[in-house]
Amino acid sequence: MASLSPSGEGYGGSLRYLTPLIRERGHTLPRPSGVIEHYRDFLPVSENTPIVTLGEGDTPLVKSRQIGPALGCKALYFKLEGCNPTGSFKDRGMCMAVAKAIEAGRERIICASTGNTSASAAAYGAKYGLQTFVLVPAGEIALGKIAQAMAYGARILAVNGSFDDALTTVRGLVEILDIELVNSVNPFRIQGQKTGAFEIVDELGDAPDILSIPVGNAGNITAYWMGFKEYKAAGRSKKLPHMMGFQAAGASPIVQDRIIERPETVATAIRIGNPASWKRAVAARDESGGRIEAVTDEQIIAAYLKLAREEGLFFEPASAASVAGLMRLPELGVDLTGKTIVCILTGTGLKDPGTAEKRAFVKMELVEPDMESVMALIGAPRRK
Ligand code: F0G
Repeated sequence: MASLSPSGEGYGGSLRYLTPLIRERGHTLPRPSGVIEHYRDFLPVSENTPIVTLGEGDTPLVKSRQIGPALGCKALYFKLEGCNPTGSFKDRGMCMAVAKAIEAGRERIICASTGNTSASAAAYGAKYGLQTFVLVPAGEIALGKIAQAMAYGARILAVNGSFDDALTTVRGLVEILDIELVNSVNPFRIQGQKTGAFEIVDELGDAPDILSIPVGNAGNITAYWMGFKEYKAAGRSKKLPHMMGFQAAGASPIVQDRIIERPETVATAIRIGNPASWKRAVAARDESGGRIEAVTDEQIIAAYLKLAREEGLFFEPASAASVAGLMRLPELGVDLTGKTIVCILTGTGLKDPGTAEKRAFVKMELVEPDMESVMALIGAPRRK
């Protein structure tokens, strides 16, 4: 077992306590748990790096039953990143960022966030005893994400400004304070997130023809592209996918090739006007022969409901942007016939109950608690 350092020092209270206990009892961990252990050969970890994990990664890749066949592709798969411990893909990168923060002796972490990064930082911070500060744009965070940060016990600073303002602020702060920045400008975040690409190749036996992914701060598209390239270089795959990234029309700086001062979209997770990894997203697009395009809020909500109602997949609006975008590709001249496609569904729909309540247009039907009343509403035929 290479997961704990010889001394067990410097890992925060819980691990210092656990290390001798695990050794004394002769235990090893039953199987790789989390992405650091599973993919450690591809990650910048040493024996001094603690294995930080909440059990992230190893998310389901499920085949589409309706949307894929309607598009005429060979196979469309959804990667369910909402199945990560805090309900979004952020956990893959956060475990790495937190591991490296602990290795560097930090006791505090900070991030700017549209919600998911803050939930993830707060969770790992809680488990490993780090004080966690999250800066979020006031009034613009989906309820589930704020609820998470509150429950995990992070300090939540609601800024009177945008995500971009919050990120600029924390980037400045970490220059002068003894505190680790865990946004995706932290290179270890990208390192951890690239494991999503590894899992896809491990499962499909090769890279897909097309990867469809939402783009906000542009860290994830950067990470996937890095992962696919590294795996191909290591001989694990034969080809590379075309990277198709999608921004919300009201928050589409890369598509419009200009900073958007006041980004606006129903997909609050990607309401970002000046992405930190802008250049690397453009590089992923261009090196892979891909596209970065915009989808309207109407297209996002249509895809959000289609995913839920035709595939049984409840994911947040930002995730649905990748499905909305995929459905636009044929009209943009991209031929999907016969292609193997993977669509990254980045965060669970439970994060944002308000959108379901407002946009699904389903009313609860009040009924008396007796068979007659319920039968009248159901209208099903009697058993033969
Ligand atoms: N999907 C979801 C659910 C997200 O939370 C994010 C980003 C993205 C897609 C876009 O990923 O930024 O790597 O291009 N959320 C960040 C946050 C900004 O603060 O939680 P990206």
